[in-house]
Amino acid sequence: MPDKILIVDDDPLAVKLMRLALAAEGFEITTALDAREGLLAVQTEQPDLILLDIMMPGVDGLEMCRQLRSRPQTANIPIIFLTAKIQLDDKIAGLQAGADDYITKPADPREVVARVKAVLARTRRVPVAKQGWIISLIGAKGGVGTTTIAVNLGVALARRKVPTMLIDLHHHSGTVAWQLKLPDRLSLTELLTMEAHQIDSHQLTKRLYMHASGLAVLPSPPIGSGMIELPPAQVSAIVRSSRPLADVIFLDLPHMLSPGAKEALALSDVALLVLGPHPTDVACAEQLKTMLEGVGLAGEAINLVVVNRAPSAVTLPVPQIEQQLKKAAWGFIPPAAEELAYSYQQGVPLVLAESGGTAALSLRELSERVHSQLSGRMLRPR
Ligand SMILES: Nc1ncnc2c1ncn2[C@@H]1O[C@H](COP(=O)(O)OP(=O)(O)O)[C@@H](O)[C@H]1O
Ligand SMILES: [Mg+2]
Repeated sequence: MPDKILIVDDDPLAVKLMRLALAAEGFEITTALDAREGLLAVQTEQPDLILLDIMMPGVDGLEMCRQLRSRPQTANIPIIFLTAKIQLDDKIAGLQAGADDYITKPADPREVVARVKAVLARTRRVPVAKQGWIISLIGAKGGVGTTTIAVNLGVALARRKVPTMLIDLHHHSGTVAWQLKLPDRLSLTELLTMEAHQIDSHQLTKRLYMHASGLAVLPSPPIGSGMIELPPAQVSAIVRSSRPLADVIFLDLPHMLSPGAKEALALSDVALLVLGPHPTDVACAEQLKTMLEGVGLAGEAINLVVVNRAPSAVTLPVPQIEQQLKKAAWGFIPPAAEELAYSYQQGVPLVLAESGGTAALSLRELSERVHSQLSGRMLRPR
């Protein structure tokens, strides 16, 4: 996929010149004649870099740059000012507004091309210092409430201003986007069908959707990728690329233990095993626990979340489940069919609902627990 450059300039001749020079180098070009049009194009086109004029009618380039920098979705797009303002003060103002480089007009198109390439190469170098926690959520069976837990945990942490990401790793029947009322983007499918070595933090960032809570989401559409299995090499590349991008990364995993799901689990720091309070769920969880231990998750890295989806006379008490599985339960979520139906309909996860009842309270407690466990532990993710 060629890098996409957005040129924002009110001078059609300048636009034409730059377009020609950059297109000749294989870049994909979109253009806008003012900042308002430019901001729209940023949303719809998701450019890899912006060439931005400063003096334009209406909102000027400096202000447009500040606006882009202030929003998490656009904060990291490289910006090069291309402008006739040649005073030193103007250059400084441009760099202070958050630009990556500054070129004065009239500029030789060859210089513009060289600077565009240099800025792209420089901004691609992802800092290695930051390493987020990878927390996998996996159901003992399908339909136990795993995705609901993942979505609520993600949103709750994001609301606490913890940089949080949620990756829907369902290569088909993903429901994260549906629960959050996000557009069904092909984001996961696009990554899964790329060569593994091409998947990096930049490719991942381009496909993230920012939920109103601040949660960064990699959605997966319910129609899926058409793949039979999750490809492990691509899953590995996606998970590794997510680490520098957030402090906590939740993976919503399909309960089917494909090699791809195992790969994700092997890269996880913590697994939350979701199950209902029923003997069959406990039996399934027991097997899953053995598998998790097999990929290197053990001890405190495996924890239970019990979801009681419907009141029933044969429900097992939580202490008995903990004893049988020799694992602590981090949470118990009571039945909340109606509240959940309403929450999905509104696209507002239960943890955010004003009056969510006891289930919302339990989800909030679970998120507190996850948060305190992570911040309390001195060891860094493995
Ligand atoms: N606490 C709960 N009470 C009642 N129903 C629930 C609860 N949690 C989840 N559900 C319901 O269970 C079904 C499966 O939930 P989902 O989160 O998609 O599970 P999974 O990801 O394990 O398939 C959904 O219809 C959901 O509304
Ligand atoms: Mg699910």
